[in-house]
Amino acid sequence: MSTSRTARKSKTFPGLRSGESVRVLISSARVKTRLKQLAREIRGDFPSEPLHLIGVLKGSVFFLTDLARELGGEVSFDFLSVSSYGHGTDSTGEVKLIKDLDVSIEGKTVIVVEDILDTGLTLKYLLRFFEEKKPKHLRVVVLLDKVARRIADVQAHYTGFVIPNEFVVGYGLDFDERYRNLPDVCILQFAARGKAKTA
Ligand code: IMP
Repeated sequence: MSTSRTARKSKTFPGLRSGESVRVLISSARVKTRLKQLAREIRGDFPSEPLHLIGVLKGSVFFLTDLARELGGEVSFDFLSVSSYGHGTDSTGEVKLIKDLDVSIEGKTVIVVEDILDTGLTLKYLLRFFEEKKPKHLRVVVLLDKVARRIADVQAHYTGFVIPNEFVVGYGLDFDERYRNLPDVCILQFAARGKAKTA
């Protein structure tokens, strides 16, 4: 699903800092509808398998918990945390593990839950990391995909929305740890400097 039907409404939000504004790209209602479809797709592919969701902290928290409640059947989940360095033109693509998984994924049907696929360097690292742990199945679901920014040759099995190259916040996504609690996915803009672009 693409976001061609982009809402252009500016949003006032109590946590907004001066000089920053947000406008809705994908409303919480659209996210909710799309999540139901994604859950049906995933469950359709694995009708009777226990599903082990792995959320990448922290951006995927709302996405994972909402998706988990839409998936019928047996569902468990775990989280891990990584930090990515230097996504600019001189990027090394280095990704560092900050928090490991709590339980083994060997033999499990694993669904990696990511907030946004940008360059793809984080996902590339994660896929290699998970494959070594011998899951039965390994699938990836992303809420947002900035296809135009891709560097690594990776793609998700399930994608919520393809979005343009804009810096987005809300529904778990942050700018400097802020705006995660915005219910909608919004484009972040700076009054003085124009749009915030990813590095
Ligand atoms: P990648 O390795 O470039 O694909 O980066 C993925 C990570 O970068 C995501 O999990 C986010 O944490 C962060 N990121 C990329 N684009 C955005 C954005 O527009 N808003 C907020 N975080 C972003």
